[in-house]
Amino acid sequence: MAGDQRDGADTLLEVRDLRTHFMTRRGLVRAVNGVSFELKKGETLGLVGESGSGKTITCLSILKLLPRGGQIVGGEILFDGQDLVKSTESEMEGLRGKRVGMILQNSMAAMDPVFSIGTQVAEPLVAHEGLRWKQAITRSVDLLRMVKITDPQIRIRSYPHELSGGMRQRASSAASLGLHPDLLICDEPTTALDVTTQRQYLDLLKDLQISTGMAIIFITHDISIVGALCDKLAVFYGGLVVEYGPKDQVLNNPSHPYTEALLQALPTLGEKTERLRMIKGEPPHAGNLPVACPFHPRCDQAMDICKEGDAPPGFYLGNDHQARCWLLEKDNEQYHR
Ligand SMILES: Nc1ncnc2c1ncn2[C@@H]1O[C@H](COP(=O)(O)OP(=O)(O)OP(=O)(O)O)[C@@H](O)[C@H]1O
Ligand SMILES: [Mg+2]
Repeated sequence: MAGDQRDGADTLLEVRDLRTHFMTRRGLVRAVNGVSFELKKGETLGLVGESGSGKTITCLSILKLLPRGGQIVGGEILFDGQDLVKSTESEMEGLRGKRVGMILQNSMAAMDPVFSIGTQVAEPLVAHEGLRWKQAITRSVDLLRMVKITDPQIRIRSYPHELSGGMRQRASSAASLGLHPDLLICDEPTTALDVTTQRQYLDLLKDLQISTGMAIIFITHDISIVGALCDKLAVFYGGLVVEYGPKDQVLNNPSHPYTEALLQALPTLGEKTERLRMIKGEPPHAGNLPVACPFHPRCDQAMDICKEGDAPPGFYLGNDHQARCWLLEKDNEQYHR
């Protein structure tokens, strides 16, 4: 849910009413069901929300790297003014890795076990920038140094399984950062790391962002990461962004009952939590979303209107802070459906 009050020029990414569905043997799965947000150059947006709420599929839609059966069925993804929904595969190939980088939760899976770290960091430089292998390897040593890997000349010959989890995550970041992307998408990159390594990795990401000016989308379950890293927050529920706005506004004045519940349930840095289970009731499955407000079956304050018709519209709470909840109707301006 992005606001209407845009200043345009420094907007890097604008996702408008994105819908990504899967056709499965068991029926239609509405994984992303009307997601909107925007990101300015150099800004960090945190995506938070329970398991299955659509965070990963939203990001894979931006990259158009959807798993089999997944299809963007509606909406727009404007990246620097170009609608990626309409882009061809060859246009996307030019964008992925080069202008949009991605770091995944599992760096072991993201890196190919049969190629050395050097080969994997150098490969995009050869493919996209036309460097010779020798030049690309020299640049890769610099990149490994930039992500604070010690003895990069030696490490460049290592294979992924020879590195610690933290080092592998850094190496995988070096591969994503080599071409100075304008946008880096990080899908829970620190979940597998211990607390100290998480902290170091986040500090590194922040430093790299300051030096390169890239924008970041950061998916996390961890509230302290959101606090440290993000400028803005998008709270996902049932394939929708139910609350969106500047980080401080969302954290200090959560306005959707789900955001309030989520903030109370979020683990603090260091707790190993794969899935959030503390909010009463079960998260909906995208194959069987409740009608109207997807949160109404779990909401103590649900009214009749929350159970009928379409999803609630967004209500504007000032400063680009918005929430999709009928409880806000009385005092706040409705800005879009
Ligand atoms: N390949 C697929 N086929 C069918 N449904 C899928 C597929 N991948 C994801 N989904 C469904 O889409 C919905 C959104 O999934 P997504 O992976 O985006 O959730 P998420 O918010 O990233 O969750 P998590 O925090 O667990 O990573 C879920 O209900 C999921 O079951
Ligand atoms: Mg995910």
